[in-house]
Amino acid sequence: MVDQSIVGQHLESVGRATATANFALSKYWGKQTGGVQQPAVPSISVGIQGLTAEAEVRLNYGTNQEHEIRIAGNPANEKTCRRIETLLDAVFAHSGRKAQAIIRSDTRFPIAAGLASSAAGMAAVAGAAWIAAGLDPGDRSAIADCARLGSGSACRSVHDGYVAWEPTDDGSIIRQVASADHWPLELCLVRLDDRPKKVSSADGMLHCMETSPVWSSWVERAFLDAVEIEQAILDKDLEKLADLVEANCLLMHATTLTARPPIFYMQGRTLQVMETVTSLRRDGLPCFFTVDAGPNVKVFTAPGTAQTIKTALEDMAPIDVYAIGGGLTAEESSI
Ligand code: PMV
Repeated sequence: MVDQSIVGQHLESVGRATATANFALSKYWGKQTGGVQQPAVPSISVGIQGLTAEAEVRLNYGTNQEHEIRIAGNPANEKTCRRIETLLDAVFAHSGRKAQAIIRSDTRFPIAAGLASSAAGMAAVAGAAWIAAGLDPGDRSAIADCARLGSGSACRSVHDGYVAWEPTDDGSIIRQVASADHWPLELCLVRLDDRPKKVSSADGMLHCMETSPVWSSWVERAFLDAVEIEQAILDKDLEKLADLVEANCLLMHATTLTARPPIFYMQGRTLQVMETVTSLRRDGLPCFFTVDAGPNVKVFTAPGTAQTIKTALEDMAPIDVYAIGGGLTAEESSI
């Protein structure tokens, strides 16, 4: 998996990986206090085929130069650099060897518009760094733990299909709930606005924790939701899942709307799409919505029904259809 060679006086190794975005059915919204990117609540996501990020990590041993990090061809901003440095330090703690990293990462979809680009990107960087460091690519839990330091939800992109991320007494665990084959739901992504969100998820959740009067209700309910959502997935019970996922999403957004000052991730058109989805379901179409820290609406549909639901919604906005699946693939590397 890892290719190492002497380049000049330095040992250099390269790792490459791709990872897909994941969308939460039960939201990660809140961090443990004092912890590093550990969740306050459990979350369950599903990986999305085709929303893919790729990364190449080149490690130079024997030089003290600073890391060089480029995303979509541009130098990464300071915040992203800091997060990736923390991620790299975690990888080096496993390998026992520090190195200068030269990182190239790119997504094949818009960054930071609530399309989970950072999750896919950070999972790909973690996978590529892990491979470049010569570590075992089968150790998904350890890779997930490093990815989490780049972006919390990135740890869920390390497995395919339905994935749970749960707080524990001393951190968190990641596990696959079911593969995508278990229940191949489909996704209509209703693209209302591809611009970067105004408030990052990290800043947003912190602000809501500190100022929203409904925060404790959210945390209490999120634990119950995760258990019930997992069961609905295992039972392939769409009606139950629809009810739970929409309620979980709306309670998360209740914390943003009741924060002081409020954060408006949703737009007026977001509400219109959400309402239309609920009336389509009342009319017998198997679909439900969820919305993350941005205005776009993710409409999940029963296997084989995405095109019908796309047709029903496409007057409202452009819609892309995706299959679920996803996960992390570490690729063969050559210098
Ligand atoms: O991983 P972050 O810090 O981008 O947070 C993700 C937050 C939500 O997308 C709103 C919810 C989730 O569980 O993905």
